[in-house]
Amino acid sequence: MTTPDVAAGQPQPPGATRGFTPEAARRDVPVLHRTVNGRPLVWLDNGATTQKPRQVIEALTAFYAAANSNIHRGAHTMAREATQMYEAGRAAVAEFLGAPAPESIVFTRGTTEAINLVAQSWGRANLGPGDDVLVPVLEHHANIVPWQRIAKETRARVVPVPLRPDGSVDQDAYADLLSARTRLVVVSHASNVLGTVPPVREMTALAHRYRAKVLVDGAQAVAHFPVDVTDLDADFYTFSGHKIYAPTGIGALYARPEILQTMAPWQSGGNMIESVSFDRTTYAPVPHRFEAGTGHISGVAGLLAALNWLTAFDRAAVADYETSLTAYAQQALAQVPGLELLGPVAERIGVLTFTLPGRAPAEIADRLDGDGIAVRAGHHCAQPALAHYGLDAAARASLALYNTREEVDRLVASLLQLAVTGCAHRPASPAS
Ligand code: ALA
Repeated sequence: MTTPDVAAGQPQPPGATRGFTPEAARRDVPVLHRTVNGRPLVWLDNGATTQKPRQVIEALTAFYAAANSNIHRGAHTMAREATQMYEAGRAAVAEFLGAPAPESIVFTRGTTEAINLVAQSWGRANLGPGDDVLVPVLEHHANIVPWQRIAKETRARVVPVPLRPDGSVDQDAYADLLSARTRLVVVSHASNVLGTVPPVREMTALAHRYRAKVLVDGAQAVAHFPVDVTDLDADFYTFSGHKIYAPTGIGALYARPEILQTMAPWQSGGNMIESVSFDRTTYAPVPHRFEAGTGHISGVAGLLAALNWLTAFDRAAVADYETSLTAYAQQALAQVPGLELLGPVAERIGVLTFTLPGRAPAEIADRLDGDGIAVRAGHHCAQPALAHYGLDAAARASLALYNTREEVDRLVASLLQLAVTGCAHRPASPAS
């Protein structure tokens, strides 16, 4: 069998470009062509996870069919090939994020693990009594709870940064809350529940004036617009592969190299050591010191393929398209009587969270599912953001580059039917 390119660390010629259209993207994504409940699928749950192009699926298959090996150990050809692929993935992530060096990238299970790593390593060493961690109210629980836990242990404080009614982070309050006590500011580059894109570069510059570090949660951002951590001047940046067309279980942490060098390991075990004895154990250099155990090697193959797939499109064209689709969806949803869209903030991604009077969010999602339309309902792991609107649950449609106006029209038609007649198209179950 011919060794697939993925095993040689050269999955696709980097820099290969394709004209972007949503149709071109759709053609690559097999699952978008299935039906659900007898209707063509409309996947509007991209905030929860994105669907995978065949290039990613093929990279996973190719890895297991012809290239499966552990990495960084074993003096054989396939271990070397797998290691080469894994490190090519790290270099690709660094380039994708505008990071200064591959060594500034740590592979993690995803954003949640990356934030926990920073909390448990950097946080444990750098937070203490009287220190503040500023956390905007719109954050995902994954960017709140790890800070609450480490703050409790270190007797630091987690300080919420309030939102304005439109769902933007209150920049005046933020400026007022910053002080010599602020050790860390954490902020989502895009909110998973309101769609808000805060002014991260400006927030970072302000935080740095107080010598505070800044962690940016890019989970909902990286698939939608180009990111450059050097331009943002972020100290930490995290993302999850599965939200950028790659497999679940793989993600990355970027950390400013001079900070990463100072950080102690979090998880311990194989792969992260230099030498072990019962007298003295020393650790591997960064980033391997933070990658204990066998990582998600095939996930890196998938992530590499996903980044190549996405970056082959003109990213500015993708971002422009998603912005215009979001504006179209906002206008179209306004036709639905009583529908309330949360957070009409201007700087945003295509996350549209809403309520309908007299309809529980779970019922909305269930009725839409009957029409083949997948949306999420619930608290979206962002309970403080929903509480800002006096809610504990809402429905959410979240867009990606392969969604179309026709799909938005189907969403609106189903919601209109539900709002106006109280019915949707769900077929009666055979048992009923
Ligand atoms: N964080 C993911 C979401 O927003 C799971 O749905």
